[in-house]
Amino acid sequence: MGGGGCGGGCAPVHNGAMNQPDATGSLPSSPVSHLPTPPNRLTRLLGMALPIVQAPMAGSQGSDLALAVCAAGGLGSLPAATLAPAALQAELKRLQTEARGPYNVNFFCHAPPPFEPAREARWQQLLAPLYDEMQLPMPTGPAVAARAPFTAEVADLLEPFRPPVLSFHFGLPSPALVARLKSWGSKIMSSATTLEEGLWLQEHGADVVIAQGLEAGGHRGMFLSTDLGTQVGTLALVQQLRDQLQVPVVAAGGVADASGVAAARALGADGVQVGTAYLLCPESATLPLHREALCGAGVHETALTNLFTGRPARGVVNRFMRELGGHSVGMCEHAPAFPLATTHMAPLRSHAEAQGSGEFSPLWAGQNAARSAALHARYAQGGMPAGELTRLLATGWG
Ligand SMILES: Cc1cc2nc3c(=O)[nH]c(=O)nc-3n(C[C@H](O)[C@H](O)[C@H](O)COP(=O)(O)O)c2cc1C
Repeated sequence: MGGGGCGGGCAPVHNGAMNQPDATGSLPSSPVSHLPTPPNRLTRLLGMALPIVQAPMAGSQGSDLALAVCAAGGLGSLPAATLAPAALQAELKRLQTEARGPYNVNFFCHAPPPFEPAREARWQQLLAPLYDEMQLPMPTGPAVAARAPFTAEVADLLEPFRPPVLSFHFGLPSPALVARLKSWGSKIMSSATTLEEGLWLQEHGADVVIAQGLEAGGHRGMFLSTDLGTQVGTLALVQQLRDQLQVPVVAAGGVADASGVAAARALGADGVQVGTAYLLCPESATLPLHREALCGAGVHETALTNLFTGRPARGVVNRFMRELGGHSVGMCEHAPAFPLATTHMAPLRSHAEAQGSGEFSPLWAGQNAARSAALHARYAQGGMPAGELTRLLATGWG
């Protein structure tokens, strides 16, 4: 477990304040009870009690968080994009044995990028002054893809477990693979960032479409366009998708508490997927310096950046994003394609983190991260437990 939460120096923190409502009254006055919400087409399809999906968050959580959310009646998710086969197998065994209710396993399906020597050379040139400042040797050799897309081999590994739900970012696997996953009963979800992507996902077999608004923390799931000008806020996207799709639509991006859930429901969403708000839970593996950033004054300033991996993702603005960003903070036309940008960035990150600095780390967070921090700040240590957060969010469904 990660621990830490906002108890490590973030204000305001009150000992034993679990039962205190906040200024907006959005937290019930006693530990949140398991409020049954009437089943809807999303909960009937996926089998969970509450229309709350805990967003998979690669690098920030494992099965601890997913299990806690499942136990509370939500859909817990395991991010698998960065897991080696043995680690994935161990996590799947644990979920299969211990999960109360259905769970979700999440993968990326990006096309592996070509290696572009000229772009790589320009990137290294841009990073060179930082290597000099930190007195580090620039790694030699080609960039390495640290995140692999979903393949038939991964499907082989999954098959004995037949996870109840599988979700994807950056599109879907091939039609043959989608058919195979569905043949053993898994339900398929994927993120859409535009109406066009939502229609594409439905046509290619998604049982549920996640409407990932521009507010969302982490990587944009965009896959039909690389133009950030196409990206839509959660409010507009949920309504556009709900109007045009037949499959259930899950709102993601900026939902941080019960009032956000109520808003998503009012817009016509069938459920919500929440990421940033779970980062401060004790069951998350969020790094201490990431937790600090989420509780700090700078949390109001988030931006999209392609500097850490090569794909746009939203995080708290730090020095790396400010200095390497081009026309807009965090975005650089010379960053190698996803996920190759990570190779030459990673040593800078490790070095800075060893000094206790998050100025070169991806501090993924959505635009409503401050709201999440305010909820967790009431807990003396370790943040609000994930089960309680899940039940709190569900109170917004009514
Ligand atoms: C730290 C972090 C890591 C993320 N990693 C993933 C991931 O591995 N797979 C994925 O499908 N989405 C990932 N996302 C995006 C979420 O699925 C979701 O779209 C987003 O968290 C919703 O917005 P919110 O953060 O404002 O709640 C991540 C988000 C965050 C904050």
